[in-house]
Amino acid sequence: MRGRFLSFEGGEGAGKTTQIARLAARLRAEGETVIATREPGGTPGAETIRDLLVKGETDRWNGKTEALLMNAARADHVARLILPALQAGQWVISDRFAHSTLAYQGVARGMDLEELMALHNIATDGLWPARTILLDLPVPDGLARAKGRGGEDARFEGEAIAFHEKVRAGFLALAKQDACMTVIDAAQDAGRVAADIWRVVEPMLRPLP
Ligand SMILES: Nc1ncnc2c1ncn2[C@@H]1O[C@H](COP(=O)(O)OP(=O)(O)OP(=O)(O)O)[C@@H](O)[C@H]1O
Ligand SMILES: [Mg+2]
Repeated sequence: MRGRFLSFEGGEGAGKTTQIARLAARLRAEGETVIATREPGGTPGAETIRDLLVKGETDRWNGKTEALLMNAARADHVARLILPALQAGQWVISDRFAHSTLAYQGVARGMDLEELMALHNIATDGLWPARTILLDLPVPDGLARAKGRGGEDARFEGEAIAFHEKVRAGFLALAKQDACMTVIDAAQDAGRVAADIWRVVEPMLRPLP
């Protein structure tokens, strides 16, 4: 059932939202039904929690409160959107999911990774993506791209460069230990990034065993 659940991860401005739109369009052209969603958020209740997390002062919450809010939002997102869609045989592509919590609240804010994984498993009944695409990009490039994009959801973008470097290193360390993660060079032009992603996702079009 989790065979059609993908997540996209990476720092600010890495190209997650851009690439999810391209991938969803490509899958729809293949005749698939695709739910493109995001975290924190994705359902009305989780979007309400999102506002608490992504707006306001950068020091508004500590890592523990962030982790609990993220997982409260995720529990609603999984129960009310992701699981029903997977059970209906649809594709679900989430813009950020579990690995963002591990990289931001874990590696960058210092929460214990084992505890965060246990919390994730409580929130989701143990749901992990079949494949996680990590878009990797040097931090200054990502922040420059994110600035160009604008928007008010900029609480995390306000963190120091050192914070974002910890996030990037955290994602790469997670990918080294997780066979379900694929690292893609997000510094390439968007068409090349999309081609690299398609090489990973196309084999998942085959019927599930
Ligand atoms: N491969 C690329 N090369 C150059 N610019 C890109 C590329 N991919 C996306 N961009 C541009 O960079 C900006 C950020 O991209 P996007 O919003 O997709 O990133 P994101 O990972 O979703 O960021 P955030 O984490 O802040 O939501 C956008 O203006 C987008 O058009
Ligand atoms: Mg985005």
